[in-house]
Order: sequence, then structure tokens, then C-alpha cells
Amino acid sequence: MELSTYALAIVQGDTLDAKLTPPAAALTDRAPGPALRLEAPGRPPNLAIRPGRLARVPRAQGMSDPAQRARILHAAANHELQAVELFAWALLAFPDAPPRWRRGLLCILLEEQTHCRRYAERLAAFGLAFGDLPVSGYFWHKTPTLTSPLRFVCAMSLTFESANLDHALDLAARARAAGDETSAQLFARIHHEELRHVRFGWRWLARLKDPTHSMWQAYCAHLTYPVRPAFARGAAFSVEARRRAGLSEDFILELKRCPEIVASRPERKAPRCQPGASQAPPAEPQARGAPKRNVRAGT
Ligand SMILES: [Fe+2]
Ligand SMILES: [Fe+2]
Repeated sequence: MELSTYALAIVQGDTLDAKLTPPAAALTDRAPGPALRLEAPGRPPNLAIRPGRLARVPRAQGMSDPAQRARILHAAANHELQAVELFAWALLAFPDAPPRWRRGLLCILLEEQTHCRRYAERLAAFGLAFGDLPVSGYFWHKTPTLTSPLRFVCAMSLTFESANLDHALDLAARARAAGDETSAQLFARIHHEELRHVRFGWRWLARLKDPTHSMWQAYCAHLTYPVRPAFARGAAFSVEARRRAGLSEDFILELKRCPEIVASRPERKAPRCQPGASQAPPAEPQARGAPKRNVRAGT
């Protein structure tokens, strides 16, 4: 089977199995076909994308409460499902990308399938199945801005997956503190596997960027507001995780300088981070009583 055929079946599939079943045999990539930018995925009815306000995720502090922990695990499964779909989406959107980039995307996609399955299986311990709660489409809403392989890795690998290095570590620690060692080990294992995904983005940023730009300049230049470097970190910033993912000390320092995003509210018009800018991007406006940013766990 061709890689693009498999990717199309994942994005358009309307069952969970269609999205989470690895290919039966090695895929070929001889005919990637024309660029195809699908606007939305096929989904079973119980996993239809709902407005964010209907799919709120508890804050990380909720891990101490089993009911809230189950909702966080459900959200984590949803993020993994979107990751599966988005990597398949990118394979369809960028048929002219380097074959090694496309092969790398497939490897990550296969790991995201296992992540989604593991979170979904863990839900059973809480009397839930994946799809029992409403799910949002956070990643899918970003696809109009992902207009090149470089923009894709800057957003997915070096921002969302980077932030999830912190989130997963935090959730693992909180699950352990709550006495849920099984969930703790699950978050920790997925954190470990996500290091490779961030490393993939780092390597391709180096290969695809303008050689006159620094890594940080190129990264900033290929994010589209409201996504910005501050989105690439969690509350507890792990320098060690970034080192293990292969990021340079300079880049890690720039990320660490970014303010943690603590509020969630409609974005105001703001300038994009410009190449050459080394300062942290503007902090989000603080609203009185504004809700804390939702947890985003593991991709
Ligand atoms: Fe993942
Ligand atoms: Fe990932």
C-alpha cells in the first residue's frame, strides 16, 4: 500500500480502529500524489469534534481526584488521536517533502497510535471508554496555518510536543502523588517516547531553515500567531528533557525565558515573533477571574 493511501484512510476513517491500526505490511512512497489539505477528519459520532467550551479539561491539580484524573486521561487520548490524524494530514498535504521527512512522520504516527491506545485502555480503570466525554479539535484548528513542512515541525514537534514534555512529567508526578502508579508510569513512558518526536522537529528545523537564520530565529519566523514560543513549555520547564531531545543550550534558554501562559481567553491581534527577535513573546493578557489554561497532555 502507498503511504498516501494509508494516510487518507486514517484522516477520513470514521472508526477508531481505522485510525489506530498500523499498516499490515511495509508501505511504499512511490506516488505521493497531489497535495491534499483536508479540512476536517472523519470520526465516529462519539468522537466528533465539539467546541472547546463543551470539552473543557481539568487543570493538572485535578489529578488528585480520580474523577478529574479520568477526564485528563480522556483529553490525553484525544490529543494523541489528533496527533495521529495530523501526521497523516501532513503526509497528504506535503507530497513533495523530502522522502526522509515523510518516512519520519510515519514512524511518529505509528507511535502516536500506541499512545492513543494506551490512554484509551487506561480509561477502563475509571469506568470510562474513549468517546464517553466530548472532545475538542485543538490541533485541527491550526491546520490552515501549517503551510509548509517547516511550519509543520515548528508547530507540532517543537511547540505542542515540546510543551507536552513538561505536561506529561507534571502529570506523572501528580498521579504518583495521588497513589496512581499505573497512570504515573503511563505518562512517564509517553514523555520518554515524545523526546524522539521533538528531536525529529529539531533536526528538520536545522535542515529546512534559511541557513542565514539561527535556529531560534527560524523557529520564531515559522510560527503563526497565536501559536508562539510560550506555547512550547509547561508550568514546570524541564531543561533536561530538552537536552535529551537534542536542543541546543541557546535555544533552551530562549524557551525557558518565555512566560508561562496562565490565562485562556480570546486572542488579540498581535505581531508575530520576528526573525532576529530574542525576547520572549508578549504575555497573554490577564483577565480577572480568567480560567487557567487547560492541560494538554502528551501527543
Ligand atoms: Fe504521543
Ligand atoms: Fe508525539
